[in-house]
Amino acid sequence: MLTVRAPATSANLGSGFDVFGVALGTPADVIRVERAPETTISITGAGSEYIPEDPAKNTVGAVADALDAPARIRIDKGVRPSSGLGSSAASAAAAAVALNALYDRGRSREELVPVAAEGEALVSGEAHADNVAPALLGGFTVVTEDGVTQVDASVPVVACLPDISVSTRDARGVVPDSALMDDVVTTVGNAATLTVGMTRDDPDLVGSGMNDDIVTPERTKLITGYDQVREAALEAGATGVTVSGAGPGILAVCRRRDRRAIASAMVDAFDAVGVESRAYQTAIG
Ligand code: HSE
Repeated sequence: MLTVRAPATSANLGSGFDVFGVALGTPADVIRVERAPETTISITGAGSEYIPEDPAKNTVGAVADALDAPARIRIDKGVRPSSGLGSSAASAAAAAVALNALYDRGRSREELVPVAAEGEALVSGEAHADNVAPALLGGFTVVTEDGVTQVDASVPVVACLPDISVSTRDARGVVPDSALMDDVVTTVGNAATLTVGMTRDDPDLVGSGMNDDIVTPERTKLITGYDQVREAALEAGATGVTVSGAGPGILAVCRRRDRRAIASAMVDAFDAVGVESRAYQTAIG
């Protein structure tokens, strides 16, 4: 039997919509696999009751198919579905690594990115790699049509997860069809600043480069209390705050010494608008 852990991830980081992604230290999914004549899946842990165990409907089943690697697969979910923290990507990435090793398929981590993205396509309808790439490669990733670029970044963050649900379909439905050139220029500048910040492990540059006036303002309308939580995190020392992936999770970048205060400020701010939440004090890495 083989056991593989794959981390939560956060896509977009504001200015890098559908391009940027980061791996987070916690939470994580753990997958155990053993060879079997046909694939079966059992799931425990966070939100497991919402995930189909039928291999034809499960992201991990799609990965097993793509690698021609039937197995008895047990998934322990640490990353709650519909959180904005790459729940299906964590399972897909862990399954890709585990089944690749179990059947000696010899694929590199980079070669497993499109395999795991196929699993993502099953649940989201589109083969986004902006969560599976960091789940497989770690650090900060830039996904384009030409491939993936990875940087080993290490920046403290708080990922705050409210107990509300935002479907990826709804979150994609509010993405504007076009953007003003002024907003595009600002966003490109921010994305470049953020990228430099990642290469320097600099929370100030990363935080200031997360602002985005194109997609994020539309998505924040779907998250009860977003403005209050963002303000509270900034007051407690966050260098930047944005929606994690398609939401409803909210990501705050910070210095290590401010992490605890930011986590508590974000949870309190959600609480004040009647929303329960949980904050992970973690880091990109
Ligand atoms: N980039 C994707 C989005 C991530 O924001 O919709 C979620 O799949």
